[in-house]
Amino acid sequence: MARRFLICGGCGFIGSSFVEHLWLKYPDSEIIVLDVLTYAGSLDNLGELHTESRLQFLEADICDIGALPGLEDVQFDLVVNFAAETHVDRSLYYTSDFVRTNVLGTDSLLSFCRKTDSPILQISTDEVYGPARENETFGETAALNPSSPYAASKASADLLVMAAIKTFGQKAAIVRTSNNYGPRQFPEKLIPYFIYLARQGKPLPVYGDGKQQRSWLYVDDFCSALLRVVDDFPTGEILNIGATREYTNLEVVRQLTTILECETPVNHVADRPAHDRRYRIDSRKFEQRYGGINERDLSDGLRQTVAWYQSHPEIFDRLRTQDVANFRDKHYHNRT
Ligand SMILES: NC(=O)c1ccc[n+]([C@@H]2O[C@H](COP(=O)([O-])OP(=O)(O)OC[C@H]3O[C@@H](n4cnc5c(N)ncnc54)[C@H](O)[C@@H]3O)[C@@H](O)[C@H]2O)c1
Repeated sequence: MARRFLICGGCGFIGSSFVEHLWLKYPDSEIIVLDVLTYAGSLDNLGELHTESRLQFLEADICDIGALPGLEDVQFDLVVNFAAETHVDRSLYYTSDFVRTNVLGTDSLLSFCRKTDSPILQISTDEVYGPARENETFGETAALNPSSPYAASKASADLLVMAAIKTFGQKAAIVRTSNNYGPRQFPEKLIPYFIYLARQGKPLPVYGDGKQQRSWLYVDDFCSALLRVVDDFPTGEILNIGATREYTNLEVVRQLTTILECETPVNHVADRPAHDRRYRIDSRKFEQRYGGINERDLSDGLRQTVAWYQSHPEIFDRLRTQDVANFRDKHYHNRT
């Protein structure tokens, strides 16, 4: 029988890439993409897929999934939850939006999945472990120690998933990943935003000294790894899927400006409160069960990313909405 997948948040950055991977790997499957289309989501991210008959798009909020007509009796082979408020900077101002979608939304999806007996994969982040000291690496059993409201809301969601596994024996699992980058990321996020500014020769606002370290994983490399859990669902497990190499923000900026062949100056601006210096997750558990993560070099991934944004400049129009203008006024005002 054809498999049926429900992909929540499938019009966002990682979700839309995962839908593409799923589409190609399971050519007989039916895919329902459920997304409320916040400022960060767009049907354009699905390209032509959204006109295909085996993909159905539902414009809906995960918080309301229990009341959606037509879905109440549908059992899915897998539900994947990418739907979230994801911008850490925004979480400083709109905390309750983060709690609503990331915590209450996950709770409502968990209830739906219990009712329909559908396995659920929750997509989470390395940020739930909080900052890692130099040489420290977090495995899946490390304590949760989130710093930002975003990370706290994601950690809360993870706790709800873990509680549902223990309490109800729910078929659920969590994957925590490191910073993803690549095509279709909303251009308010660091890499596309810097491409946007650099193309105009504007200075690049780097928080603090710019020496914060991140492990950048190209979105296709993450989604290829994630696909492996579809056929061998790790019920009850938490798995880290992170990049192995680390780069400072300044190094990312240096590589970007080299690729863009521009000499845009860096403008060190006031750091974000509770800005973690370093995240670091250990993916050995995933690799032992599913094989190594094929991770391209940052320089190759950045070249592909820059090429994509150069050939899709219309994505930068999404920065012109009132919502984005309001956020930028709040956030960058006085931050020079
Ligand atoms: N991007 C990263 O580097 C990264 C790293 C680690 C973990 N994650 C996690 O991966 C997931 C996807 O991240 P992303 O970068 O693709 O995010 P994104 O912001 O690009 O996309 C989120 C999507 O969710 C949708 N959405 C938001 N609220 C919703 C709601 N209430 N109901 C239905 N849909 C809703 C948005 O419209 C959007 O399409 C998130 O859970 C995020 O926490 C992301």
